[in-house]
Amino acid sequence: MSVKIGLLGFGTVASGIPFLLQENGEKITAAAHNELEIAKVLVKDEEEKNRLLAAGHDYHFVTNIDDIVNDPDIQIVVELMGRIEPAKTFILKALNGGKHVVSANKDLIAVHGPEIIATAKQNGLAFYYEAAVAGGIPILRTLANSLTADKVTRILGVLNGTSNFMLTKMVQEGWTYEDALKTAQELGYAESDPTNDVEGIDAAYKAVILSQFGFGMTISFDDVKHQGISNITPDDVAVAQEMGYVIKLVGDVKETESGISAEVSPTFLPQTHPLASVNGVMNAVYVESIGIGQSMYYGPGAGQKPTAVSVTADIVRIARRLTDGTIGKEFNEVSRETKLANPDDVLSHYYFAINTPDKKGQILRLAEIFSVEDISFEQILQTKANGTSARVVIITHNMSQTQLEAVKSRLAQEADFQVVNTFKVLGE
Ligand SMILES: NC(=O)c1ccc[n+]([C@@H]2O[C@H](COP(=O)([O-])OP(=O)(O)OC[C@H]3O[C@@H](n4cnc5c(N)ncnc54)[C@H](OP(=O)(O)O)[C@@H]3O)[C@@H](O)[C@H]2O)c1
Repeated sequence: MSVKIGLLGFGTVASGIPFLLQENGEKITAAAHNELEIAKVLVKDEEEKNRLLAAGHDYHFVTNIDDIVNDPDIQIVVELMGRIEPAKTFILKALNGGKHVVSANKDLIAVHGPEIIATAKQNGLAFYYEAAVAGGIPILRTLANSLTADKVTRILGVLNGTSNFMLTKMVQEGWTYEDALKTAQELGYAESDPTNDVEGIDAAYKAVILSQFGFGMTISFDDVKHQGISNITPDDVAVAQEMGYVIKLVGDVKETESGISAEVSPTFLPQTHPLASVNGVMNAVYVESIGIGQSMYYGPGAGQKPTAVSVTADIVRIARRLTDGTIGKEFNEVSRETKLANPDDVLSHYYFAINTPDKKGQILRLAEIFSVEDISFEQILQTKANGTSARVVIITHNMSQTQLEAVKSRLAQEADFQVVNTFKVLGE
């Protein structure tokens, strides 16, 4: 007996699934307790269908979603089209038509996940999406299953390969942001509109999903403060190195006394931190928990075959559960009341880069401004004086998000101080 699959889209990831079924069919069949068969593939139009057929892809291509949703033989629909619409409509249609669904669409799941998960639950169907966070790293199932007995206190992640590739070039080879972006686009790592990758949006989508699996709390995308890498200057990179840090774009989800906090921001990581050595397009998720302590999951966050492995594992799991009669379980079964952290409880060290006229007493004045908000300095450095202007770099002791906002607004009122950048600094 075979389990029949309908693929929606036949792009990068989807076209990696036939490779796995071909090269690893025996193991997949054994694990699924069934053969898996790609019964139909939805493509956009006749032109695309003819192009794929001419290229030797021997599938039953269709151009209307109803041909898949209304096919009683198809049990699993695999959405690999990306973007919100029509993916959302098609997934809901499939679930309401009695199909189990697999997706890798983090944008959609981060924003509309609760509605889709509820629809799957109402219909007693599976909705799995291992590939939506860090592509080839099996992090969601690890959090949901392997860490079920552990209490996760913080998840830190290098979650976006494009921005990590760019930052690695900026840090290791002194490239500017513009040079790094141009090369990332030439190599196909960055899209022509790179906003989601470089502004931390893609990583914030993943932080939303990680908060569900790590903490059982369903936060919304708007709850994730996000800052991207486009403001990072070569000076920031050089100062970080001089002070013993590496800058990475880090997603940070943690539980405080008052609730959960999730944010994505350029972060100074101590050079000895395991995430500091995650370079190029690689991703990693670093989990702090009361049982295991610290563990890190490292691997390719994207790419045809790595992502197809995660997608196919979801398909196998569903096929297996169909045979076992255990289908319908939620991907993540742990859920708690969602409580957002009070900004007073969200603490971090911070890096400030501030331009100021090169005159006497400025550092003293800065110390006064910070101390009004009860913030003290851990390190201070005057990095550059070019005739009339100097750059002062400060790393603070632990301070709250409330103090951060307060001191930033105080500095904004001072004509002598121009805050160029503020980034988080991870303590040793
Ligand atoms: N690529 C990765 O490494 C990776 C990693 C993790 C997660 N993901 C996720 O996996 C999903 C697929 O990514 P991908 O890289 O494979 O994207 P892709 O290469 O752009 O493939 C998507 C395919 O779906 C087609 N499509 C779009 N709308 C369609 C419609 N209405 N009907 C039929 N086909 C349609 C696209 O056609 P056109 O090209 O003509 O629009 C394209 O061929 C996305 O949600 C992505 O975020 C990807």
